[in-house]
Amino acid sequence: MTTDPGLDSWRDLLAHQQPAWPDAAVLAEVVDELSILPPLVFAGECDVLRSRLADAADGKAFLLQGGDCAETFAGATADLIRGRIKTVLQMAVVLTYGASLPVIKVGRLAGQFAKPRSSDDETRDGVTMPAYRGDAVNAWDFDAAKRTPDPARLLKAYHTSASTLNLVRAFTQGGFADLRQVHEWNRGFIGSTVNVRYEELAGEIDRAMSFMAACGADFDSLRTVEFFSSHEALLLDYERALTRIDSRTQLPYDVSAHMLWIGERTRQLDGAHIDLLARVRNPIGVKLGPTTTPDDALALVDRLDPTREPGRLTFITRMGAGRIREVLPSLVEKVAASGAQVLWVCDPMHGNTFESASGYKTRRFDDVIDEVRGFFEVHRAAGTVPGGLHIELTGDDVTEIMGGFEKIDDAALATRYESLCDPRLNHQQSLELSFLVADMLRGR
Ligand code: PEP
Ligand code: CO
Repeated sequence: MTTDPGLDSWRDLLAHQQPAWPDAAVLAEVVDELSILPPLVFAGECDVLRSRLADAADGKAFLLQGGDCAETFAGATADLIRGRIKTVLQMAVVLTYGASLPVIKVGRLAGQFAKPRSSDDETRDGVTMPAYRGDAVNAWDFDAAKRTPDPARLLKAYHTSASTLNLVRAFTQGGFADLRQVHEWNRGFIGSTVNVRYEELAGEIDRAMSFMAACGADFDSLRTVEFFSSHEALLLDYERALTRIDSRTQLPYDVSAHMLWIGERTRQLDGAHIDLLARVRNPIGVKLGPTTTPDDALALVDRLDPTREPGRLTFITRMGAGRIREVLPSLVEKVAASGAQVLWVCDPMHGNTFESASGYKTRRFDDVIDEVRGFFEVHRAAGTVPGGLHIELTGDDVTEIMGGFEKIDDAALATRYESLCDPRLNHQQSLELSFLVADMLRGR
């Protein structure tokens, strides 16, 4: 190395949302151990994803990014991971078939173990404890010892990410994701009109493939699927320990995931998160909430994508159904006018969260759909590209989001509410959303 890539300059800057680790020496030991563990992804894969995202920014592909709000160590089982992968594959097939567009599949998984919180503490019945910050930091149990941040959890987050990604790679490379399994992915899910619609579409795909096979087509390219990992780059000690100099290019990559994003709460221009992520070569996302100004967006482009490299920067807007039509237009217009080529993605989840009368953190399926519609409308009017969808989902039949074809109401939320953080679309709601978005994409 001839130049210092400045990978530690973030340490002099303000880093929001970092845990109060009780013992700096223990943290330092863990970081040393993490620093020599093997990369979870190969830098070359990050470059491939960057080029795919460049296609999406250009309207030639569509990004589907989804997974848990917060992964848990207990949730890293074969069945639960398979359920999430199947759901993403099914959504992708609906979108690909419906819109005749390649869909880039990126999981919010194999590393989504740390959460920003609106408050550092949580009080229950007069007792105050540190807030739960994700399994990489502390435990959900409301117990003083378990809520104390424990650096050993960073190691467990690494190893759980590794085993999750290993299974994802096995599923997507080993034949499970073969398009000829399109019916198989639906097995085990509850019967419903959404599922009937999916089975019809799968039947059409089967017929198309039989036709192609009869014509002597070669199906090798359908056997495997490209699947990338992503998470919020929140815990900077962890992300720094997984940042390595790529042997091919001598450039730094954060090899904890293919794509990293910076959350709405940690995207300060002079903050530590932007500083570290500006220096790595991965594709980077930034969440933009309803208070974002066009100048904020332009300054983020200058900091994170100074050379205007296609696929480098993704803006994930999460405005809320009620705000998107008012806030997004000036952002997309000014960014487009600056000549920057960012990928615009809609997160219709985080601007639409509220507490239900019965006390559950929830969202309305109709608000989710309305925000996505608003996103497409704004881009159509501006002549820009609505390039992707970022959602919180699970492959299970949970009841965390109100509405959808099952018409989950407030009373039904208690039936099966399992998220430790934000409410997720269940399997049915995820499929339903993908059918609706396929229609919007066709009209794009
Ligand atoms: C999240 O994606 O779970 C999250 C916390 O999002 P945001 O930064 O947009 O609030
Ligand atoms: Co969330």
